[in-house]
Amino acid sequence: MDQKVTVIGTGRMGSALASALFKKGFNTTVWNRTAAKTEALSQLGLRVAHSVVEAVKEAQVVIVSLRDYNSTLQLLQHPEIEPRLHGKILVQLSSGTPMEARAMQSWTQRCGIRYLDGAIWSFPIGIGTPACLILYSGPEEYFNCSKQVLRAFGENAVWVGPEIGQAPALDYAVAGAFVPYSMFGFLQGYVLCEAENIPPAMYMQFVKDSMSILDGYLGGLFEKIQNKDYAGDQGTLEAWYNAPRGLISCGKEHGTDHSIADAQLSLMDRAIKSGNGQADFAYLYEVLKKSSG
Ligand SMILES: NC(=O)c1ccc[n+]([C@@H]2O[C@H](COP(=O)([O-])OP(=O)(O)OC[C@H]3O[C@@H](n4cnc5c(N)ncnc54)[C@H](OP(=O)(O)O)[C@@H]3O)[C@@H](O)[C@H]2O)c1
Repeated sequence: MDQKVTVIGTGRMGSALASALFKKGFNTTVWNRTAAKTEALSQLGLRVAHSVVEAVKEAQVVIVSLRDYNSTLQLLQHPEIEPRLHGKILVQLSSGTPMEARAMQSWTQRCGIRYLDGAIWSFPIGIGTPACLILYSGPEEYFNCSKQVLRAFGENAVWVGPEIGQAPALDYAVAGAFVPYSMFGFLQGYVLCEAENIPPAMYMQFVKDSMSILDGYLGGLFEKIQNKDYAGDQGTLEAWYNAPRGLISCGKEHGTDHSIADAQLSLMDRAIKSGNGQADFAYLYEVLKKSSG
């Protein structure tokens, strides 16, 4: 592998990214603020730079894995570093918002840096394995010319679009909203089953069985939103309202937390009070589109 790659930040994730590159045969250099965290990589055979300037000097692709975008800017927005990044591919793999990605892109454009933004859907242990999925956004040309490097982290290196904020936005939509909301629901259900002496294994089995039902429901929601057809022919918001209301009642009875259900009830209340109680659950999409304030 002839491309020289530098990884800035060798915390849990950066170390995994750097060692995956090295194992794939890339000429890999690392830098970390706390030098001790580069020792294991140095023992593996990776080159350790003693300054950021030294780290980026020779690299063709620079991967950043720091706590956040502020740390990245603090580190790289420097008159000694900016010219050394000119013309190079910079891939931001720290977590951030679409707005932060756009701000980062403005800075890179001023400096002539070719910038890609990425969102990692994996724990460090999954990096370099087939299970690792990383989303990238930004100019497709930048993605294509760094694809070989990015595939060292896993074959699932997916370019999602040219707008720089698209990878972090999808990250928030799926890994930040959809998946954690299901996990919140799972925990809320667990607490209720425990309070009602339902064996956890039985709960788990029903949760697993409901996955295919959920799959069908999500497909139905998607179609209704696409067609702007909110007819509640199979079920209405007023019927669904019983779910959070019931959870709140159980929470009060058992002295357990019901704040997740409170938020759901309040959202449904807004839809019902605006005269849409007979609409399908999909109508909540219209409510979510508007600010609650
Ligand atoms: N771990 C995961 O499962 C996972 C999954 C997806 C995405 N991510 C994202 O990956 C990024 C790194 O996460 P991590 O798990 O590797 O965290 P971590 O182990 O805590 O590492 C954080 C890294 O950021 C560096 N850092 C923090 N503030 C800095 C500053 N002001 N200047 C220079 N360096 C600074 C740390 O340097 P020091 O060693 O000197 O403190 C360290 O290298 C985060 O944005 C995280 O959200 C992580």
